Amino acid sequence: MSDELKINRLAKEDIDVVYNVFAVTIPDTFLKENITLPGDLIKNEIELKKRLLDESIEGRGIFFLVAKLGELVVGTVSYGPCGEDIRKCTNSALSRIGELGSLFILPEYQGMGIGSLLIKKMVSELSAQGIKRFCLDSGYKLAQKKWRRKFGEPYMTVKDYWGPGYDHMIWLCKVRGFI
Ligand SMILES: CC(C)(COP(=O)(O)OP(=O)(O)OC[C@H]1O[C@@H](n2cnc3c(N)ncnc32)[C@H](O)[C@@H]1OP(=O)(O)O)[C@@H](O)C(=O)NCCC(=O)NCCS
Repeated sequence: MSDELKINRLAKEDIDVVYNVFAVTIPDTFLKENITLPGDLIKNEIELKKRLLDESIEGRGIFFLVAKLGELVVGTVSYGPCGEDIRKCTNSALSRIGELGSLFILPEYQGMGIGSLLIKKMVSELSAQGIKRFCLDSGYKLAQKKWRRKFGEPYMTVKDYWGPGYDHMIWLCKVRGFI
């Protein structure tokens, strides 16, 4: 990485390029996870994320940080209200805890520490806002392996949530531990 990595709040003019990060990274993730989904379901997943971008620009509860190398947006993270899967799996036990989500790094920039930097920056923002805990979840096996190392053993694992052999994992973390 020759350019300096900068992490900032999402600006309106970044929306299209951030959308491109989702459009590239989400299908690539399904491919690497050996998950075969019809094209329209993958498209829905991308559109769902795009709606979150619009909500964040409208100031509706969620906010994004984006990582840029020069002018290229290489990754994102969001923080917002606890999502549907976490509510469902925990029987709403974590519904008052905000969720770290939308962690996507362009495929060719994965494994270089950019995800960790985004997490660190986001958690610093949470700390500055007096937030003490956050949660996150993942149904992707490759991300689960990384998050187990980074966040420890999950608060909850829901066996076969996404189908046989595809568990869902939820972490509950203290802000203090990640700044
Ligand atoms: C998952 C993802 C966001 C991680 O970002 P990244 O930039 O690739 O990850 P990093 O290099 O910053 O590593 C993050 C942490 O993973 C862990 N990790 C990294 N490489 C690992 C490996 N080979 N084995 C196990 N854990 C590993 C480490 O704990 C590391 O943090 P640390 O170095 O601070 O301890 C990114 O790979 C991605 O976009 N994947 C595809 C989409 C996806 O699955 N998103 C997550 C949805 S929940």
